Amino acid sequence: MLGMNSALVKKYNVAGPRYTSYPTVPYWDNNTFSLQQWKRSLIKSFKESNEIEGISLYIHLPFCESLCTFCGCNKRITKRHEVESPYINAVLKEWQLYCNLMETKPKIKELHLGGGTPTFFSPQNLTELINGIVSNATLAKDYEFSFEGHPNNTTREHLQALYDVGFRRVSYGVQDYNENVQKAIHRIQPFENVKRATDLAREIGYTSISHDIIFGLPFQTLENVKYTILKTKELLPDRLAFYSYAHVPWIKGNGQRGFEDSDLPSPALKRQQYETGKHLLSEVGYHEIGMDHFALPTDSLYQSMAQHTLHRNFMGYTASKTQAMVGLGVSAISDSWYGFAQNVKNIEEYYNLINENLLPVYRGHILNDEDLVIRRHILNLMCQFKTSWADGLYFNELPEVLIKLTEMENDGLLIIDSNTIKVTEKGYPYVRNICMAFDLLLQRKQPETQLFSMTI
Ligand SMILES: C[S@@+](CC[C@H](N)C(=O)[O-])C[C@H]1O[C@@H](n2cnc3c(N)ncnc32)[C@H](O)[C@@H]1O
Ligand code: SF4
Repeated sequence: MLGMNSALVKKYNVAGPRYTSYPTVPYWDNNTFSLQQWKRSLIKSFKESNEIEGISLYIHLPFCESLCTFCGCNKRITKRHEVESPYINAVLKEWQLYCNLMETKPKIKELHLGGGTPTFFSPQNLTELINGIVSNATLAKDYEFSFEGHPNNTTREHLQALYDVGFRRVSYGVQDYNENVQKAIHRIQPFENVKRATDLAREIGYTSISHDIIFGLPFQTLENVKYTILKTKELLPDRLAFYSYAHVPWIKGNGQRGFEDSDLPSPALKRQQYETGKHLLSEVGYHEIGMDHFALPTDSLYQSMAQHTLHRNFMGYTASKTQAMVGLGVSAISDSWYGFAQNVKNIEEYYNLINENLLPVYRGHILNDEDLVIRRHILNLMCQFKTSWADGLYFNELPEVLIKLTEMENDGLLIIDSNTIKVTEKGYPYVRNICMAFDLLLQRKQPETQLFSMTI
């Protein structure tokens, strides 16, 4: 007989979004989207929020020297470092196009370098990029700069150069410390490399170090997850992303190959890996922050969760909220709160558009009133594990949504109390499913092919 947890896993393990945005990207309405509307929505958002809270910047740096076969990110594999300068110049030009739209200088509150592998670029080129960005902007008093570093190629020079231009946060991709898994995902990365990169960052003065680890990888056993957490304990990063492996081999060019679906842990084992991992992390002193994330109580992510100010955007969870986020570089997504826009994914196409002084946007969505209300509910659930339809967050189809939520209440995943729902601790791993109950666009039109990874 199935135990309670296995029965729940079976019931709720369906394909579902990770809700870094609402509407989710496949549901954007490109027919009602235009570049003109996108610019207008960003200018409006900028006027409303730049002075008060500043904006966030995400910069996508797509190059990697070698392909990890689990990776779902937008990347270009090359060993030719001549690609660095043209790319930096194009990003700076794109930033200039955005700055030309604004009447005053943007005030940067948050800046994140993601990829791909930002540390593919030389320290000199990264410095040139940041200096170019900042020369067109002002910095918020408590600005936060962060980057993703590959432990195998992050050098002291990278860390020092980025520290010198204001970076205090770094996240390292660890994934798993076991050789069998590392071989399967084509990413050989000894513990010593992660230790060296982590120690160096601390020595130089970085105040928040994060590690990404993943469960549900090909050939990964429960013992492998336990070992990875045991080694993580030795380095005690301030934050941890404990991701569920997203298996999305149908996404063009993502390179998830070299293993079969049958090499992946079963849903029940995957859930056990998560539960065991969570338990071990809590023994070390980590607290679960929203979905996938853990932090020590000394880290600002924990503090913002405790103060109910946690926010989530395309970069994941952040301690500070800004209404406007500009994404630069191939495939980057921008968010004006009233609209989303995504850049073209192909590097040559990106260069062509930038050379013609055009914003390299190829798709997007302008949110209507219903989208804005549902977006709020989903953010509340993702960041605070609760939401309420008092205070103007009512929408017409709420009664139908409540029928779905009542079933989840019967399964012990949440508690409905007059006009509020609160996710129970048992319901935390199912928060994506709970958000799906609110996702009217998904319910009105079920995808014809699988678009999303499984929720468990
Ligand atoms: C852009 S990568 C990290 C930076 C750097 N390229 C590296 O590999 O160290 C960002 C993170 O996304 C996560 N990631 C990538 N593909 C994933 C997938 N299919 N499922 C879950 N997490 C994934 C990994 O944990 C990875 O460290
Ligand atoms: S995990 Fe990092 S290094 Fe590996 S392919 Fe993805 S982005 Fe590149």
